[in-house]
Amino acid sequence: MSLKDMFERLEKRNAEAESGGGEKRVARQHESGKMTARERINLLLDEGSFVEMDKFVTHRCLDFGMDKQKIPGDGVITGFGAVNGRKLYIFAQDFTVFGGSLSGAYAEKVVKIMDLAMKHGVPVIGLNDSGGARIQEGVVSLGGYADIFLRNTLASGVVPQISVIMGPCAGGAVYSPAITDFIFMVKDSSYMFVTGPDVVKTVTHEEVTAEELGGAMTHSTVSGVCDRAYENDVETLQMVRRFINYLPANNRQKAPFRPTPDRSDRMEMSLDTLIPDNPNMPYDM
Ligand code: HXC
Repeated sequence: MSLKDMFERLEKRNAEAESGGGEKRVARQHESGKMTARERINLLLDEGSFVEMDKFVTHRCLDFGMDKQKIPGDGVITGFGAVNGRKLYIFAQDFTVFGGSLSGAYAEKVVKIMDLAMKHGVPVIGLNDSGGARIQEGVVSLGGYADIFLRNTLASGVVPQISVIMGPCAGGAVYSPAITDFIFMVKDSSYMFVTGPDVVKTVTHEEVTAEELGGAMTHSTVSGVCDRAYENDVETLQMVRRFINYLPANNRQKAPFRPTPDRSDRMEMSLDTLIPDNPNMPYDM
């Protein structure tokens, strides 16, 4: 094969990887008010800072006709980049590819960047938009989650782990974010549940809306799983950018210091009455 042919082949594979699950599914993503995984990465990270890894990885599943459906990248975009010049690792789940569901190969991509984030002592950010374990892969997918959950616990207290929930996330795609440090959600388009309303109805005959089951308001006012909820993808990602400014990169660093006109010895009298003297008295958190 000539060098020209090789470049052409590379370009074709790049285009395939970048088109995700195809025009129709990308249009459906946009119609539901959601950005694609690549658009989200571009908005979150400093311009031109993203370096993608494992762009051409595909799954290894041969069952249920999956051997005929392979999309380079396999539903998750991984790599590193910077926010306001500060380095971090990132993965973004692509709902247009098999509903962003996790295969064995996909899990290996995520595990790799989590290991690198711990090695380099920098945050890891997950942009989550996934139906959870890839049903066609069965136990291989569940094993992939086990590898990710292990990294979540090993990274805990070492590097910041931030989860942004940006679509209907189910199963493992929620169990992992739930044990990270900070969870952001998008109102009216993101959900965190063990499984979706349709499966709940089939199994338990119970009718429940996605919002009641695991919407941003449920998780920020009832369960407390979500730390911050914003109106749309753009606002959420902008607030994540701002939030990163306050974090140390790892457990050995101090949080960034910025000069402020607010004196550190200023007395704030309201703090004396914030919590009632009586330990049995409830108060508004
Ligand atoms: C494979 C999946 C998938 C999955 C969705 N898709 N979830 N493919 N594995 N888990 C595919 C659909 O077939 C569809 O493909 C496309 O993604 C979009 O899905 P829709 O259902 O059309 O979208 P929507 O109506 O928005 O509903 C999204 C959803 C729903 C709420 C996430 O798809 C759903 O309930 N999925 C199943 C969730 C689930 O039970 N996951 C397994 C969890 S178990 P096409 O080709 O039509 O575009 C788990 C265990 C972890 O994760 C344990 C670890 C130890």
